Amino acid sequence: MAVNNERDARASISVKLSRPSDKEEEFNSNVESIHQHLAIKSFLTQMEILDPALLEHSRLVTHYTLLMGRSLGFTSDDERKLLHSSLLHDLGKMGIDRQIIEKKGKLTPQEWELIRAHPLNSVKILSIFPYFRDIIPIVKHHHEWYDGTGYPDGLMGEEIPLMSRMIMVADAFVAMTSDRPYRAALTINEAVGIIRKNKGRQFDPKLVHLFITVVSEELKTPL
Ligand SMILES: [Fe+2]
Repeated sequence: MAVNNERDARASISVKLSRPSDKEEEFNSNVESIHQHLAIKSFLTQMEILDPALLEHSRLVTHYTLLMGRSLGFTSDDERKLLHSSLLHDLGKMGIDRQIIEKKGKLTPQEWELIRAHPLNSVKILSIFPYFRDIIPIVKHHHEWYDGTGYPDGLMGEEIPLMSRMIMVADAFVAMTSDRPYRAALTINEAVGIIRKNKGRQFDPKLVHLFITVVSEELKTPL
């Protein structure tokens, strides 16, 4: 009987030891947050050095996706995922010649291939870090179109992760309202008009409505 009790006591101690305590879990999650923070800072610094226009673009896209996320009542964990995926969605574009990214005319098949590879290249870079696993699908699918004609997988509608659909709208708006070497920036009204026209095709119709609402609120002007 005494032996059994001793065995049970040992088993219970070993179960307790194999299960991390709340304090340990909190410590591990804090360490993970610090690692994430430093990795993001390092990526953004690389962008600043190699492609400052890409950094500016990523920050603006993040500004608009976060406005949408707040309006949708995202939890702090979802907000963190949205922040990280918006900042890093185009990581794989670093190193692509700006002349190709901003080319006015038709892209050659090779140039198009380079552009189409960027979401998967972003994924390749992020996959090295275990703590970015939850943003990988968001980054991977940020060029999928609502009607299924986007890339890399031709996902359709709500098969596309919600945050990828949010990045898609913000990304298009920021691109259209930024100056390009071959054209001046479109006005906010022009860009909103194009986004409206493409709802259900390129963009999630519900998110188009939400996006226009949050931009109108920000500008204090109905659009
Ligand atoms: Fe992109």
